[in-house]
Amino acid sequence: MNKPADLPRCHREDENSNTSSNPSFDQVLSVRMSRRGLLRSSGAASIAAVLGSFGLAACGSDDDDGPAQANETLLGFTAVAKSVADAFTVPTGYTASVLIAVGDPLFDGVSDYKNDGTDTDYDKRCGEWHDGMEYFGLSAAGARDDAGSDRGLLGINHEWVTQTFLHPNGPTPAPRPAAEVDIETACMGVSVVEIAKGAGGKMAYVKGSPFNRRITTLTEIEFAGPVRGYARLKTKFSTDGTKTRGTVNNCGTGKTPWGTMLTGEENWASFFARNAGDNLLRTANENVAFARYGKSVTTTAGSSQAYAWNTVASGEDKYVRWNTSVTGVSTDGTDDYRNEFNGQGWVTEIDPYSATSVVRKRTAMGRMAHEGAAFSKPVAGEPLAVYMGDDARGEYIYKFVSEALWDPADASRADRLAVGDKYLDRGKLYAAKFNDDGSGAWLELSMANPAIAGYTTYVFADDADVLIHARIAADAAGATRMDRPEWSNTNPANGEVYITLTNNSNRRLAPTGSQLPLNASNPRAYSDVRGGTTVQSGNVNGHIVRMKDATPAAPAFGWDIYLFGAEADASPQLVNLSGLTDDQDFSSPDGIVFAGSTGICWVQTDDGALVDETNCMMLASVPGAIGDGQTVTLDYGTTQVQTRMGRQATESTLKRFLVGPKDQEITGLAETPNGKVIFVNVQHPGEETSAADVGDPSKYTSHWPGNAGYGAGGADARPRSATVMIVKNDGGRVGT
Ligand code: FEO
Ligand code: CA
Ligand code: CA
Repeated sequence: MNKPADLPRCHREDENSNTSSNPSFDQVLSVRMSRRGLLRSSGAASIAAVLGSFGLAACGSDDDDGPAQANETLLGFTAVAKSVADAFTVPTGYTASVLIAVGDPLFDGVSDYKNDGTDTDYDKRCGEWHDGMEYFGLSAAGARDDAGSDRGLLGINHEWVTQTFLHPNGPTPAPRPAAEVDIETACMGVSVVEIAKGAGGKMAYVKGSPFNRRITTLTEIEFAGPVRGYARLKTKFSTDGTKTRGTVNNCGTGKTPWGTMLTGEENWASFFARNAGDNLLRTANENVAFARYGKSVTTTAGSSQAYAWNTVASGEDKYVRWNTSVTGVSTDGTDDYRNEFNGQGWVTEIDPYSATSVVRKRTAMGRMAHEGAAFSKPVAGEPLAVYMGDDARGEYIYKFVSEALWDPADASRADRLAVGDKYLDRGKLYAAKFNDDGSGAWLELSMANPAIAGYTTYVFADDADVLIHARIAADAAGATRMDRPEWSNTNPANGEVYITLTNNSNRRLAPTGSQLPLNASNPRAYSDVRGGTTVQSGNVNGHIVRMKDATPAAPAFGWDIYLFGAEADASPQLVNLSGLTDDQDFSSPDGIVFAGSTGICWVQTDDGALVDETNCMMLASVPGAIGDGQTVTLDYGTTQVQTRMGRQATESTLKRFLVGPKDQEITGLAETPNGKVIFVNVQHPGEETSAADVGDPSKYTSHWPGNAGYGAGGADARPRSATVMIVKNDGGRVGT
């Protein structure tokens, strides 16, 4: 059995359940030089010659965060060419090496990874499908140190699994063997792993570190915020609705100003089965809600769990829970898992500095297919805003505004999760409405909004109901349906929020059925031919929108489109609007992270359109600000669509920095605070390999990173998701 054909991996997003109608960056850079930086720079250069490429990270280790080196030029590297090679390619003058890959042991006593399908104990190993990632600094003594670049923690999301390579002969069809399901359920979730400089100054992960932790689909997690204890969270496992097990399909991340990790639960709906006929046991309201979150059934057709985890013959509770159907006789769901579906889809907070801390789902931030969670720049005495995307076709962009006002003393408190309680458990949730004139409005999602209180398609009971069904509330409020909002991140230079809109096969010039019309914020629909035969239509290549609030709680925002993904040779009038060249062209932006050190905006792709020409990639960009471009009109002949775009790309503002191996996506980015090491994830290399071919390595579509000398297997290795670290050979900051 290979992956079910309808498995909605990110780049094959099937879900389409929304059927409702400053100072400039250059100025900032120019002041980031100091005499101290100059001196340090020359010292680093001479030591580099002795230590070789990885010595540099060691000598640049100290406290020289921030100041630019005298000869530093952002995007000073030569662009990496598009490539379909099964290799991880960085610019000349840079070195990339694997830090940790799926299966690597995190704890003492756990054996090295054999990578032949026989490994077990994944709750003690690094998980699979590395995704969003955050870095948390440590001092030499092991205390939290936000400036610590020599020792730190990585929080790594694990989004899905590639069943083909986790078992000796690929996955056994349903009913699934317990042993296989136990491997898969333990492979997902989040890893927290210590990294530190070892011999030669090279970063390595620390096996057996007391900080190391695996959070899996079975870890006990508390609900926090307004929905905690709500009737619709009650299950056999938690009869008072205060807890659940696991965080599922973890994709984008966020880092709080108080030093914790936020992880977004994305395509969790796929992990639940429902029985045929379960609709007959539900209220009309419940059936509307299941349909809106992509899990409707009929009297004759049920819905399956992505990996059939619920089919294990033993019927043990940890497997049965994945079937979110009415199977008991209670009126409140405390004897079955009818409400288990409501336990996923949240932003979940983890304190990486405490391996025993209780993980919390922040219900005030709403339930959806969560991606990133980007904070506004904290300002004393103002609330905090968190910007979030919901990744499915036609979904919305959201903002959470804390009730509590920011107290800078909270940034360094030791009781970090209590700080999370303070800011993330009480506040207001909004959805974005984009106007064609470059303005926008934040629409409140609560019973105080008459459009929600009076909605008839779904009848909301109270504010907790609104949070569980945030998508439906945003429908009622009239938010703008976007081209799959993925990750969000905040430009530290000016507070503008960037959100990737990865693509949308459902956008059309002349929409029919559930297709969506063009508008200024989603202005493109076109066709692209892949490999000479496969035609893809809609907004095939995606774009990146940026938004700005005057204050965190502002009811209105301004926006424009930072970049349009496109092939270099596509129409400059209708598709390649940003003027991308061969050194810059990309498709399906997904991960987006601003480096705090350099201010570079890193853009990562998860693409299915340009893959005939290149594997997925990461680009470095130097952002400007909203309004640095112009208003343009796209002339579709019968129809004209006006949009607002940022300045065109140039060689000094956008450049391809790396290309990954075959059949993967580049995702997740973290850096040491001094900017001298960045960490990037390669997710699911070789995923197109048929499970039927698992016995024949010559048929694997990727052998990375075994073919690059990492781990067992060599040139015939099973491919592995992995975290890669990248350093500049001259000891400079990455991206210069
Ligand atoms: Fe998991 Fe939408 O990227
Ligand atoms: Ca992704
Ligand atoms: Ca193409």
